[in-house]
Amino acid sequence: MPLRFERAGIIFALLLSSSLIPAAAQMSAKGKISGKDFDNAAAEQAKRYLEEGRETFRFDTFRSEDFWGGKLKLHKAIAGEKLGGRGPGLSPKKALELGLKVDVNAIPKDVAEALNKGAVDLADPASTLVLLRANAVVGVTGFFAEDGKTLISVGIQCAVCHSTVDDAYAPGIGQRLDGWPNRDLNIGAIVALLPRCCRYQKRR
Ligand code: HEC
Repeated sequence: MPLRFERAGIIFALLLSSSLIPAAAQMSAKGKISGKDFDNAAAEQAKRYLEEGRETFRFDTFRSEDFWGGKLKLHKAIAGEKLGGRGPGLSPKKALELGLKVDVNAIPKDVAEALNKGAVDLADPASTLVLLRANAVVGVTGFFAEDGKTLISVGIQCAVCHSTVDDAYAPGIGQRLDGWPNRDLNIGAIVALLPRCCRYQKRR
């Protein structure tokens, strides 16, 4: 290593130590921060990072909606013709068959009650939109127009592949298990839902 880099390193180390050591000495001198305080602060910080990371893992789409919605128009296939999309739409029953999971704790209370009474039509794509609006489809976020009804895009999260549920309510519906692989997800079948306009077509 050339000498001047070494010297720069030494100066940097000196700067660091001269700025840090007095600060640490000051703290202990005033008796304000003990080793235990440091441990507690570190534990607090670790907890905060875990919570933030969990939020990102569960709900951050990393703008994947630009691809799944913007380019592929998957939201149109989910909504179906009756609700402003294309084709028959994706019912909750079909979504579960494709391996998508429903977080039972995210289902709104009135919907849960209706579900218990058997009053939710699991063959109706409109019910899928209700679940999407409630953020109850694990790893999938629906984006809605200002009317709150029209699905205008859809994005995915880490959780779509890396979370599943414990099937406590019914197969595919239960408490979320983050970090457990979803072994039922059929990505091929999901992509095959895409409206005809947007599937890959071989050009001649
Ligand atoms: C489309 C599905 C999918 C999505 C979305 C996804 N992953 Fe993965 N991920 C996989 C698969 C499949 C593997 C396993 C690859 C292998 O082992 O060959 C994997 C592996 C991993 C691993 C390595 C695990 C290990 O034990 O080695 C980590 C860490 C990881 N993913 C984190 C993430 C994070 C963070 C996100 C979100 C930003 C994410 N993944 C989104 C499918 C996905």
